[in-house]
Amino acid sequence: MWAIGVRPGADGPVVDPAGDVDAAALAALYGATGKVGEAFAHPLPEGPVRWLVLVGLGDGSAHSLRRAGAALARAVVDRHPQRRASVATTVVDGPEQVRAFVAGAMLAAFSFDWRSTNDGPRRLGEVRLIGLSDQAAAELPTAVAIGHASWRARLLATVPSQVKNPGWLAEQAAVIAADAGLEFRVWDEQALTEEGFGGIAAVGRASATPPRLIRLDYTPVGATRRTPHLVLVGKGITFDTGGLSIKPAEAMATMKRDMTGGGIVLAVLAALAEVGCPVKVTGLVAAAENAISGDAMRPGDVIRHYGGRTSEVTNTDAEGRLVMADALAYAAAEIKPDLMVDVATLTGAMKVALGQRTGGFFATDDGVADLISAAGTAAGEPVWRMPLASVYADRIASKIADADNAGGGPGAITAALFLQPFTDGVPWVHLDVASAGDSPSEWHEWTTGPTGFGARLLLEWLGQDAPLDVVTGG
Ligand code: BES
Ligand code: MN
Ligand code: ZN
Repeated sequence: MWAIGVRPGADGPVVDPAGDVDAAALAALYGATGKVGEAFAHPLPEGPVRWLVLVGLGDGSAHSLRRAGAALARAVVDRHPQRRASVATTVVDGPEQVRAFVAGAMLAAFSFDWRSTNDGPRRLGEVRLIGLSDQAAAELPTAVAIGHASWRARLLATVPSQVKNPGWLAEQAAVIAADAGLEFRVWDEQALTEEGFGGIAAVGRASATPPRLIRLDYTPVGATRRTPHLVLVGKGITFDTGGLSIKPAEAMATMKRDMTGGGIVLAVLAALAEVGCPVKVTGLVAAAENAISGDAMRPGDVIRHYGGRTSEVTNTDAEGRLVMADALAYAAAEIKPDLMVDVATLTGAMKVALGQRTGGFFATDDGVADLISAAGTAAGEPVWRMPLASVYADRIASKIADADNAGGGPGAITAALFLQPFTDGVPWVHLDVASAGDSPSEWHEWTTGPTGFGARLLLEWLGQDAPLDVVTGG
């Protein structure tokens, strides 16, 4: 399949030349306007190329090319038996454009299923970018690494929870660590209890598959003791029933993806070397199944977290913050990094606030906040900064513990305020991806179901020359 670019022009669509094919006539035939998202597939009766596809490029920006890549991928997967496409350099060039186009094409072709009638995965086999400039071609390994990481995050979130329990997640992490040359460590339920990870232990206690804390360490080539250090913490709830404060059926239906943050952390750690990340990164995944049994954590229970802070559990469905608290406290006390970033599908309130196409985040540092916002926009994962508004701190006050895990709203903000003391003053970013972690429909590069939202943003940022200089003072 050959792709031919079409752009909107003042006097009708401008069509890229396509050898001896009268591409302009084809564009007229299909009514192509060059709008982004358009992909008209035209069959050819003979010859090695069986389809021509007219792809709308819009204004040619990275944003448009991401969507053009997605439209092309969908056309190829739908039409071409070998699922192969060739794209000329007139369609895509320039480093940002290459990154965006590759991400769009890879992710729109995401698929996972266990259908019995499977005629092979409906995946894009191959896209050839013909005649790229050297500068643009040099961008390809990074582009593919980011696309692959986002794909991996989606895949992990899509795997059903009958398979994906905390132990399984730890096994995936071990494989990733071996492949990517990362240090790996895992705490089992006994070690978690002995070392005081009371939140992870309590949330995971009712499950037939016990909790785990997973740690991966990435050290860049040439690192010294002065190389800046980042900790990434992911919420790894492999299924969230809500616990004894049980969720209604509709709310529970998508909760296999409640480990999205943990999946993102694993996917990002796996790709750091490929994007040339220059700082040390430790990944922590707090993995537990929030299940129900006679031994389940109860409303009214008081938990003692890593380091000693206590939480009164007024709602067992606010479990994410309980496991994240342990991991943040551990990182602040034992790793003392320059910055901590956590990623979690933490609150339904964030979904209400931002809908399902924008992520929300909180930050203690304005400079990092700007970097995160810019990386999100550049990567196609837009995020909006929310306030750590301490005026609501009284909502999570408890009569018998340091905090109440579900005191009251505004829900996304009070969840962030709950976590903040566990960071012990370390600069901190909290990404709540409950909103954009799931796509209700096919939309450009987003496929219905888990989106892995956050992986592209983090790698876009961590692939930069000095991602932590803004907090270390460079
Ligand atoms: N995993 C949910 C949050 C969530 C909701 C993620 C919708 C994705 C989509 C979280 O554990 C939860 O249940 N939060 C509660 C907190 C409440 C009990 C304070 C919520 O948001 O309702
Ligand atoms: Mn919950
Ligand atoms: Zn949850």
